Amino acid sequence: MSSAHGRPATGTLLIRDLAQVATPRAPGPARGVALRDVAVVEDAYVLVRDGAIASVGPMRDLPQLDGDVAELDGRGLSAIPGLVDCHTHPAFAGDRAHEFALRAGGATYEELLAAGGGILSTTRATRAAGPATLEAIVARHRDAMLAHGTTTFEGKSGYGLDRDTELAQLSAVRAAGGIPTWLGAHAVPPEQPDADAYVEWAVAEVLPEAAHTAVAADVFVEGGTFDVAQARRYLMACRDAGLALRLHGDQLSEIGAVPLAVELGARSVDHLESTGPAGIGLLGESDVVAVLLPVAALYLARPMPPARALVDAGAVVALATDFNPGSAFCESLPVVCTLACTQLGLVPEEALSACTVNAAYVLGLEDRGRLTPGARADVVLLDASDWRHLAYHLAGDLIHTVVQDGTIAFSRA
Ligand code: NIG
Ligand code: FE
Repeated sequence: MSSAHGRPATGTLLIRDLAQVATPRAPGPARGVALRDVAVVEDAYVLVRDGAIASVGPMRDLPQLDGDVAELDGRGLSAIPGLVDCHTHPAFAGDRAHEFALRAGGATYEELLAAGGGILSTTRATRAAGPATLEAIVARHRDAMLAHGTTTFEGKSGYGLDRDTELAQLSAVRAAGGIPTWLGAHAVPPEQPDADAYVEWAVAEVLPEAAHTAVAADVFVEGGTFDVAQARRYLMACRDAGLALRLHGDQLSEIGAVPLAVELGARSVDHLESTGPAGIGLLGESDVVAVLLPVAALYLARPMPPARALVDAGAVVALATDFNPGSAFCESLPVVCTLACTQLGLVPEEALSACTVNAAYVLGLEDRGRLTPGARADVVLLDASDWRHLAYHLAGDLIHTVVQDGTIAFSRA
């Protein structure tokens, strides 16, 4: 048996004698009963060839393998697909520990932003950092996510709010292997007269370049940032430039983000902590993905999003960390899965589908999120014989090994 660590994505890798392999069965977008349709194989193997899943099955069906085969011993472990974090803000400098302490003492997120703190304080630090520092920062956060089982991450800009820093953020996400989203409309920077003027400036001066690097555009629809008319103007310009559309909506207040997302055929509307029955009904009948971010609700001590009602209404639901320095300083999708099963009313199977196959769908990636022949070989080995420890073990030291694109990218041992 040869060691598989750091091996290139060519050749054959056998992960053998796994206690369980668990994978969503249906391709994305999974909704309704398909969301909880997870196939579990006991005493199983996963065979990887040239960076792709070749086959998955019980050990008794393992085919005869010839030639050089690297092996991983899966005894006592369970395998799930590499996790997909479809909503993060990793391209920031500095931190907000001081504001965290102020919030712990009673200040609110909205008060801090209105006083020039919050997103704007991170913007000052990020503008000062420079492109090389931003690249190093995103790579560091990427590595932390990987150690929590995340093999694909989306990363937003939105802490530059000027041309060069926004573009540097997008490039830093791309350089770290992430999927960049231009969050050009995150907040109004102090040098701009108002939100309308800022949106006009951003679509004229930043969008043409941003559209070369980003795959999607995002806007923070909220009182004090961008209203529905401003968000519509921004998103329609981004759609014309070829970007998929996403919205931060109904986080703090319900001011029309969900109807706008449906009207524009957005890929997703994210947060939804304040979404009421009308918004749930709209999402239940649309293809717009409801991306739920329970860490942000926990961290800001706000109500959890109506996840159970959304799933039961037929909405396509995904889960993500919202990793950022202000409202969700947490890289862990396993923690998100625990919150999904304890606070959102989802079962572990629904949580798994929501942060694998459905999260990949949000990013337009059909080649991952399931352990199925032909898929990109992204595999997480959990240090537990029952894969549901993913959600069950709150903040546990669970990630044993991560295979990314056929290569062992993280190993705890
Ligand atoms: O998704 N709500 C807007 N944006 C981020 C937070 C950004 C920040 O506080 O730095 C979010 O929660
Ligand atoms: Fe966010």
